[in-house]
Amino acid sequence: MQASQSTSNPHVDSARYAKLIEVSKRIRWDIDRDVIRGRQFDFAKRFLPDGLSKVDRLQFLTANDQRLLSQIQGRTYANMFGLVERFIAAKMLDVSRDHWLGDQTALEALVRVGDEEIKHQELFRRIERMCAEGMPGGYTFVPEPNAVASAVLAKSTWAVMALTCHIELFVLAHYRESIGTDADVSELWKDVFLYHWKEESQHAILDEMEWTREDAKLTPEARDAAVDDLIALVGAVDGILQVQSAADAHYFVEVCSRPMTAAEVEALKATVLAAYRWQYIVSGVQIPRFSNLLNGMITPAQGERIVAALAPIMA
Ligand SMILES: [Fe+2]
Ligand SMILES: [Fe+2]
Repeated sequence: MQASQSTSNPHVDSARYAKLIEVSKRIRWDIDRDVIRGRQFDFAKRFLPDGLSKVDRLQFLTANDQRLLSQIQGRTYANMFGLVERFIAAKMLDVSRDHWLGDQTALEALVRVGDEEIKHQELFRRIERMCAEGMPGGYTFVPEPNAVASAVLAKSTWAVMALTCHIELFVLAHYRESIGTDADVSELWKDVFLYHWKEESQHAILDEMEWTREDAKLTPEARDAAVDDLIALVGAVDGILQVQSAADAHYFVEVCSRPMTAAEVEALKATVLAAYRWQYIVSGVQIPRFSNLLNGMITPAQGERIVAALAPIMA
């Protein structure tokens, strides 16, 4: 008897998974051979572009201090992806369970994504070590990946897939709209997110497929509870952003070129928090590909609940 590659499950489109595998194999890269290539970061250049870091709003900072703040934010940006990819990899392997004894092409696509996310975590650990070598001591990345992942993975799969889809779509938008087009950004920094973007382009498509498949399984009551889970997850992300933006502002005050006034410190803290909310929440929520998918799954009343929860963050 021949093992079947396909399944009669109408929610599994084997050809789409096969296409993802084909692209994933074609663009697959290696951390050292393709991305780092023996290079170091150029600390004379910015890391995170102004469109994401918002450092250009702080006109009282010198150009050198604005650059330092973009590097601190860029270091956190890499660490944040190392953090979220801990739970994303685990969730991909978790949802692959539905395909274990079913469509083997779908299973392969999910295993590949899990494997790529494990590689990305290693890339971001390398980035953190390279940043630590080139920057003054005292930086702290506060959230702990396994603690965050345990809390996230306790929520419903629908909510985790919604958050994951949102993250992987804003990865693409950030590279396309800001990182890839900014001439002032460190070349190595840009390459890290170019290569990351290449593999994430497939992940975003897979997220859409798996989230939609999960949605089709839910009763209205289960989906309503999942909307509450999603709201809780966004609140938890915002809690992390508040803590890490405060830590990064504190570190900047310690290592920048001159003492800052109390008013300047307040403006700095507010700007870094606003930048982090823009990077990790607001920029993703505004992507039509995400909002259209979400709104197609939920009722208007559920949409209003989400909008109300987001209001303080979007303001
Ligand atoms: Fe990734
Ligand atoms: Fe990913």
